[in-house]
Amino acid sequence: MFTFLLLINTLFVQAVLCLKLTELDVPSVVKQGAPVWLYCGYDLEEDELYSVKWYKNHVEFYRYLPSDEPPGQKYDLLGVHINLSKSNQTHVYLEKTDVNSEGSYGCEVSTEAPSYRTVKADKDMNVYVLPEGKPIIDGIDRMYDIGEYVNLTCKSRPSKPVAVLSWSINGQPVDERFLTPMQIERYVDGLESAVLSLQFHVTLNNFNQGVMKVRCTATISQDYYSHSEETVIGERLKTATPDPSIVNNEAGPKISGGQTRYRVGDVVDVNCTSAIDVRPAELQWFINEKKARPGYIIKYPNINYLGSMVASVLGLKFRVRQEHFLSDGLRLKCTATVSRIIGTSSKELTVGNLRHSSGPHVSENSGSALNKGSSCYVQVWLFWCFVAILCSITD
Ligand SMILES: *[C@@H]1O[C@H](CO)[C@@H](O)[C@H](O)[C@H]1NC(C)=O
Ligand SMILES: *[C@@H]1O[C@H](CO)[C@@H](O)[C@H](O)[C@H]1NC(C)=O
Ligand SMILES: *[C@@H]1O[C@H](CO)[C@@H](O)[C@H](O)[C@H]1NC(C)=O
Ligand SMILES: *[C@@H]1O[C@H](CO)[C@@H](O)[C@H](O)[C@H]1NC(C)=O
Repeated sequence: MFTFLLLINTLFVQAVLCLKLTELDVPSVVKQGAPVWLYCGYDLEEDELYSVKWYKNHVEFYRYLPSDEPPGQKYDLLGVHINLSKSNQTHVYLEKTDVNSEGSYGCEVSTEAPSYRTVKADKDMNVYVLPEGKPIIDGIDRMYDIGEYVNLTCKSRPSKPVAVLSWSINGQPVDERFLTPMQIERYVDGLESAVLSLQFHVTLNNFNQGVMKVRCTATISQDYYSHSEETVIGERLKTATPDPSIVNNEAGPKISGGQTRYRVGDVVDVNCTSAIDVRPAELQWFINEKKARPGYIIKYPNINYLGSMVASVLGLKFRVRQEHFLSDGLRLKCTATVSRIIGTSSKELTVGNLRHSSGPHVSENSGSALNKGSSCYVQVWLFWCFVAILCSITD
C-alpha cells in the first residue's frame, strides 16, 4: 500500500513539475549545400534553464548555458557548419550542408537546481545530391537492321542516394529479361552512379514509322522515416509519456483502437495508420523496441483517397503476457517508412531502321521548354528529348 501511494505521489509530482520537450525539428532530408534550421522546443514549467546541448551522432557541437559568457558556444565537428550569431537557446543555424552533415541530431535540455531534470530527443537527417545532368547512353548506332544485336549501356551521373535506372523503347517499359544491372560505380566524395545495360535483337516491332526511340530514365528517391506516438501502457495506470521527438509530427502514423489499460491475458488489438500521402508507406510494429512477430501482424488493404492519395494500415493483435511488461510498462511503437521520388532525369535517343531509309527525318523534340538541343553526336540524328528535374521535398 505504501509503495502504491508513493507511486501515485511520484506521478502527481511529475505531472506538476515536469520539463518537457515539445518539438524537435530536424529536416529528414536536405539537399547538399542547403542551409538548415534546427529547432528544439521545450517547456520548462516552473524550472529554470541550465543548459541546451546539441549533438550529432552523440558528439556535442553546440551548447547554450545562460550563465556562460557568451551563452552560446560551438565545437568543431565535420559537416556541421554552425553560425553562432544566429543560434540561441532554441534554434541552431547551419549555414550549409555537405555529405558529412548526414547523421542523427539530438537536443538535450537540462534544468537548474533543485530539480536537475534532463530531457533528450534525436532525429535523423539525410543529405541528398541530385545528379548533374542526364544519364549517359553508350553503344548506340545510327541505324539498325532487323535482327541486329543491340547492346546499350546507361549510366547515371553521380548522385546520393544512387539513382534507379529504367529503359523504355518507344515509350514502353522494357521487359526485365533484356536488362543487365551492372556494378554500381562509387566515387571518393560518396556519390554513386548506377549502370544498367539493355541487350536485344531488333525486330520490326521495335520501329514506329521507321524510328525507334530508346530512353533511359534515372530516378532518385529517398526513404525517410516518421515515427508514431509511442504508446506506453501500464498494468494499473496509463502512464503514457509520448516520445518527445515525435510530438507535433503530423506526417507520422497514428495508433488507434488501444485501451488505456491492459492486464496479463488481455488481447491487444490495435491499428497503425500512416499519414495520407501520394505513396503507400511501409509500416512496422515494435513491442518494447523489438520488431513484432509476423504472427501478431494483420495486413489490411490500403485506404484510397481522392487524387490517388493513399494511407496504409497495419494491425497488431496479441495476448498480453507478463514478460511484455517491463519496468516502465508495455511499449508499442509503429514506424512508417515512405520513399519519395526527389528527382528524375532521362535521356532519349532516336535511331532509324535501314529498311525504312526513305531519308532520315530528323525528329525535332516537341514541346519541352527544358530541351537543351545539344548536338553532341553529329552524324547520329539523335536528340535530347526530355529533362525533368523535379525536386519536391516535403517533410
Ligand atoms: C553568421 O550570420 C551573420 C548574420 O547573417 C553573418 O553576418 C555572419 O557572417 C555569419 N557568420 C559566419 C561565421 O558565417
Ligand atoms: C532564437 O532565434 C530564432 C531564429 O532567429 C528566433 O525566432 C527566436 O525568437 C530566438 N529566441 C530567443 C529566445 O531569442
Ligand atoms: C555490351 O557492351 C559492353 C560494353 O559497352 C560489354 O562490356 C559487354 O560485354 C557487351 N555485352 C554483350 C552481351 O555483348
Ligand atoms: C483496423 O482496421 C481494419 C481495416 O481498416 C478494421 O477492419 C479493423 O476493425 C480495425 N481494427 C481496430 C482494432 O481498430
